Amino acid sequence: MPIPDSTRYARDAAEAIGARFEDLDRGEGYLFRISHGEKFLLGGGGNICAYPTNSATAFTISRDKQHTKAVIAAAGVPVIPGGLFFAHTRRIALRSPGHELADAHRFAAKIGYPVFAKPNHGSRGTFAEVVRDSDALDDYAKRLALDFESFLIEPVLSGDEHRIFVQDGRAMFHSTKSSPSLIGDGRSALSDLLSALNAAVSREGVSPLPAAVLAGRDPAEILPVGGRLALPGRRNLSAAGAVEHVSDQPPPTLARLAVTAVQALGLRIGAVDMFDLSTARDFSDPVVIEVNGNPGLRTLELAGRTDLIRAIWVSMLNACLGS
Ligand SMILES: Nc1ncnc2c1ncn2[C@@H]1O[C@H](COP(=O)(O)OP(=O)(O)O)[C@@H](O)[C@H]1O
Ligand SMILES: [Mg+2]
Repeated sequence: MPIPDSTRYARDAAEAIGARFEDLDRGEGYLFRISHGEKFLLGGGGNICAYPTNSATAFTISRDKQHTKAVIAAAGVPVIPGGLFFAHTRRIALRSPGHELADAHRFAAKIGYPVFAKPNHGSRGTFAEVVRDSDALDDYAKRLALDFESFLIEPVLSGDEHRIFVQDGRAMFHSTKSSPSLIGDGRSALSDLLSALNAAVSREGVSPLPAAVLAGRDPAEILPVGGRLALPGRRNLSAAGAVEHVSDQPPPTLARLAVTAVQALGLRIGAVDMFDLSTARDFSDPVVIEVNGNPGLRTLELAGRTDLIRAIWVSMLNACLGS
């Protein structure tokens, strides 16, 4: 079993500064301790926030996409408009009216299908989907309810997608992602290519891309060898999206917005996902998709920038373990 990325990065940075790394999870890497002299910190993979400099309050607020939008919008950062709805009624007494599935139907009809839906506490692209009509919304809520309580409905936006990683008020790197795509082999039908892609997505623990990503195409169609069909919706790496570009020189307008958003949330480390909606694609019309308080760094690893991963982790370990 591979150990979590963040655990590998933590161990490498601990070695770099002469700190002691101990696995507390029988070698599986989901829980560890790093110590230096009298000082120590605990960390891990999975649901544990990998960045001990982020406060529990800031991190848990950032896990809630609706709360995140409220905080950063109040700081003047543009966010995607939308509504919060619940797939369950079990905590209905704790909220005001207007957030049930029937309200979701009214809201989606008002903003107009297709809409974009995603779990309010989601990550890695799981259940982030284009929903085409009201039957599809019922189906979405039913599937989502097994794993999540609530979801957001937003207009479907399209633009270049950017991520800026911020640490202690500095934009450390910028990356862009492209859509997942099916690549033809001259033999397999689109539906078979999608099943194969979804097998890989499921191995990551992420919900499969819905069959609706093939809307408008014949599922039996065979793409020529090397032919590429880009799929609409999420672009997360865990959902078969691909890294297009990585740079440690982020565009200044995006960097400023990301630093403002991360600081407004009280996070010391955060990654801000944005769409640039400008027609010229010149970064002049950014809107924040979400802020991640526990961002992965696999993008940097894939781009060969392990130096930057180490710099981020060493700086954080020094902040926690330094004298
Ligand atoms: N309103 C939207 N319109 C179109 N695509 C969206 C919208 N919101 C999110 N996405 C796509 O879905 C992906 C996942 O959404 P995001 O809010 O970042 O959730 P997660 O926490 O799962 O990464 C985004 O990276 C983006 O590609
Ligand atoms: Mg995201």
